[in-house]
Amino acid sequence: MSDPKPEKKVAPPKAFGWMAEYEDENQLLDAARKVRDSGYTRTDAFTPFPVHGIDEALGIKPTVLPWFTLCAGATGTTVALTMQWWMNAVDYPYIISGKPFASWPAFIPVAFELTVLFAAFTTVFAMLGLNGLPKFSNPVFTNPKFDRFSDDRFFLWVDSRDKYFNSDKVKSLLTDTGAATIEEVREDDSPTEIPKPLIIAILTLILITLIPGAIILNMRASKSGSPRFHVFFDMDFQPKKKTQTRTTLFPDGRVQRPPVAGTIARGELELTDPYYLGYDPEQTAALPGGAPAQRLVSFQQEGQASEADQGGEKSDERPPAPKPRDTNPGDAPASADAQTPSQPEAETSPAGGAEEPGAEAAPAAAGEPQYAWLSQFPISVDEKLFALGKQKFEHNCAVCHGFGGYGDGLVSQRALNLGQGYWLQPTSLHEDRIQQQPVGRIYYTITHGKGKMGGYAASLNPKERWAVVLYVRALQRSQNAQQEDVPPGTALTSAPVAE
Ligand code: HEC
Repeated sequence: MSDPKPEKKVAPPKAFGWMAEYEDENQLLDAARKVRDSGYTRTDAFTPFPVHGIDEALGIKPTVLPWFTLCAGATGTTVALTMQWWMNAVDYPYIISGKPFASWPAFIPVAFELTVLFAAFTTVFAMLGLNGLPKFSNPVFTNPKFDRFSDDRFFLWVDSRDKYFNSDKVKSLLTDTGAATIEEVREDDSPTEIPKPLIIAILTLILITLIPGAIILNMRASKSGSPRFHVFFDMDFQPKKKTQTRTTLFPDGRVQRPPVAGTIARGELELTDPYYLGYDPEQTAALPGGAPAQRLVSFQQEGQASEADQGGEKSDERPPAPKPRDTNPGDAPASADAQTPSQPEAETSPAGGAEEPGAEAAPAAAGEPQYAWLSQFPISVDEKLFALGKQKFEHNCAVCHGFGGYGDGLVSQRALNLGQGYWLQPTSLHEDRIQQQPVGRIYYTITHGKGKMGGYAASLNPKERWAVVLYVRALQRSQNAQQEDVPPGTALTSAPVAE
């Protein structure tokens, strides 16, 4: 008759197990050992305080929970490292402070976090699962005597699902252990239906939680004339004036203020001011063949059709061979620059076209715009401006033009030594032609560059450019001093030394 046992297991009968009650923990421990030695494993003890040695007495094996924790922790580490390696080294390689893509030290914080996270969650849920929790009802609670387990009594429980469970045998075994009482616990046969009042209460609660959402939805869908609630005021009530309204703050009562006189919006600087241009646009427009006012026409575009411009201002098309010309202004007519059709000498007459050095330049002059160059500095000239100009010249120009302005800067020397054919030696600023140029013309050269020389509008502001012009003028004067330049009574002993 070994068959009925498995049947009981499949469909547990009314008997759920046996509960024995003891008066002290030593009785409980003795009884537990006996029950364990009889081979029962589905047992449990309920005591008001932890009883030392009860695990062993009941034959409880060490839990497997740590293994769950270990496996989950290892999984967390692996997942974190793999994820970071894949993200940072494979999917989206991104250089951070020049470190390698797979930078393991950087992966450690995340690896640590995922290890702990996986391990902690797994431990909690595995513990619940191993303990068969949560359990909403347990038949042992149906016995009022059992309540004393948390007070002053000790209980030993043998479950009917035990492999060797046999109601009679268990009963006699427990009796032998000297239990105060022994009771068979029956399956809980209380109704499984949820009581109606409970359902009503739950439904009511659910409905109540919907109310705030319903109110918000209603508010969003409807209109109201009353002001809103202000939980956070933020800037809702800042003192401000709306457009097209009145104010008492200004005498004219206007809220929208007209721009302060002379205000120029960003990017709207109208270049009609000679200070920015280096020439007077109105006078220029009035000149025969004058450049259109306001437009910063580059020389290159004008007179392109002219046959005489192969040298002219189109320095980009110069023959590649370098031309030594810095200290020899006398060869001007032969140099390409000297063919420049107009070197407007505006200091005396803005229409400088008449003073062409060479007759062959005349056809080009027809297509060449004329400029009414400024002959005076448009800002006040003082020592500060001079110092600024010296600094800016030495930073920006000296590399090519040399500190003395002779066109022998380090860059130029090096290029000439290399013998590269395309290097064009920078113009000597002491050439007669440059000496005679009005300040506006030099300013214009600095702004827009000239031929092979780039413009400096981006790196020098107008004031700095004028300062550099001043310094160029001073350099020229220093190399070309006249008797009038020195205090009376001082004689210029020798001719100015060039180098
Ligand atoms: C990269 C070298 C280089 C630098 C830097 C340089 N220049 Fe020049 N400059 C040249 C060359 C080359 C020419 C000759 C251009 C031409 O005629 O094609 C020239 C020509 C000139 C001329 C004569 C223009 C004319 O009317 O023929 C002036 C004036 C001048 N530079 C002033 C300056 C000033 C001022 C600076 C500093 C803000 C400066 N340059 C910086 C290379 C340079």
